Formats: sequence, C-alpha cells, structure tokens
Amino acid sequence: MPGSESLAQIASKYYRADDPVRKPHYLHAYDHHFGSMRETPVRVLELGCWEGSSLLMWSDYFSKDSVFVTIDMGQSPPAIGGRPNIKFLQGFQDDPAVMKEACNIIDNEKFDIIIDDCAHVGVTAFNSFNFLFDKALKVGGVYVIEDIGAPFGVKDWPDGAPYAPEVHGIIDGNRIVGYDLGMMGFIKRLVDHVNIQSIPSRFPISCMSLYESIAFVTKRT
Ligand SMILES: C[S@@+](CC[C@H](N)C(=O)[O-])C[C@H]1O[C@@H](n2cnc3c(N)ncnc32)[C@H](O)[C@@H]1O
Repeated sequence: MPGSESLAQIASKYYRADDPVRKPHYLHAYDHHFGSMRETPVRVLELGCWEGSSLLMWSDYFSKDSVFVTIDMGQSPPAIGGRPNIKFLQGFQDDPAVMKEACNIIDNEKFDIIIDDCAHVGVTAFNSFNFLFDKALKVGGVYVIEDIGAPFGVKDWPDGAPYAPEVHGIIDGNRIVGYDLGMMGFIKRLVDHVNIQSIPSRFPISCMSLYESIAFVTKRT
C-alpha cells in the first residue's frame, strides 16, 4: 500500500547502497515534493531508465493505478518486464516523435510528473524541456531535472569544464558572471523565465526549487 514505506526504504530494494545514481538527498527532496501525491494515481514520464531501478521504485511509491512511461536509447531493461503499468519507449530523449509517442500512451492526457535523468547534456535536456513542459505536463505538475551539476563534476563531460573562479565568478560592469555551461546554463536560463515577463514564448513556471544537483520546476497556468 502506498504510504507505508519511505522512498529511501523502497530505493534500498532496487539500488545498491553505494549506487552513485541514488543520492540520499535526492530521495529526501522527492519525498518532500511528491509525498502528498502518493495516494492518488499519477502519470509519470521518466527520461532515462538504465536498468529500471527508478521505475520499480516509483511504481512501489505511488498508487498501484499509476502509469509510468520511460524513454531510453538503450534496450528495455528486463527488470521492468513484470510490471504492466510501466511502458518503455526506445529512442532519444529529445526526439519529438518519441516524446509525442509518450503522450499517446496516456491518451494525450498530461503527465503529473516528468523526470529527466537522461543524457545530462544541456542542449539535449533543454530540447526535451522545450517540448514536454508545454505539451506534456499538466498545470501544477512538476518537471524534475537531475544531475544539473554534471558539467563541472565530471572530467571530460561533453558540454562542461571545471569551475574557474576567474572566468565563472566575476563582476563585469553590471553583469554578475556565473557558470553557464551545459546543464547549469539551462537551469539558469529557466530562472529568466520565472522572472522576466517579456520573454517570447515564456515557460509558465510558478516556482523552481533547487537542491544540490537537482531542480524541481512547477508549472503554472
Ligand atoms: C543515469 S541513467 C538513468 C538511471 C535511472 N533513472 C535510475 O535512477 O536507475 C541514464 C540513462 O539515460 C540513457 N540516455 C543517455 N543519453 C540519452 C539520450 N540522449 N536519449 C535517450 N536515452 C539516453 C542511458 O541509456 C541511461 O540508461
């Protein structure tokens, strides 16, 4: 029954204790944002499922009548095979045809939750957000972006570079220059959409919650 186990307890069934993918503070943040949604059926889209551990975790966490759709460029993981409420789509996270297919699976209703735990490349993540936040997330829904610190945390990341104080942490006239590569640039760009009303095609964001390396973006009307 949903609600009887914490997310951390459920996660411990599907992830190794030392699995770097499942950071304890992510689980706390998820519980904080999703705890009130456990008893009613939800529609969840997860970009990037790897071996399926997160899908199994969410499937235990939320009501049994919930639906989980995932997009991954790899093969469908065997672990999700016995769960009919988990639907796998093979493809790239930012392919419009694949994202549209994800919407078709839920009869073109909208998702309550979208989680991007996929390529962690800024432009790719932005392309998914640009399509899905408008077309696939319901009002009041939450779009989660994991591993936003990827550009500077990992050596040789495709669109990142180490943090350099003399480049990323300076005052240049009226500009306060910060780190804007890859995922960090994407997230900082969304802050503009929260605050600047004159942005064309402004994303309807009511609030953003930022934790270390993970962002929760809530959709307004
Ligand atoms: C960090 S893993 C997902 C982990 C999973 N959410 C979990 O918590 O167990 C990232 C996944 O994204 C997939 N991936 C990476 N780049 C992708 C892309 N551009 N399009 C689709 N899938 C991608 C990889 O195949 C991998 O399975």
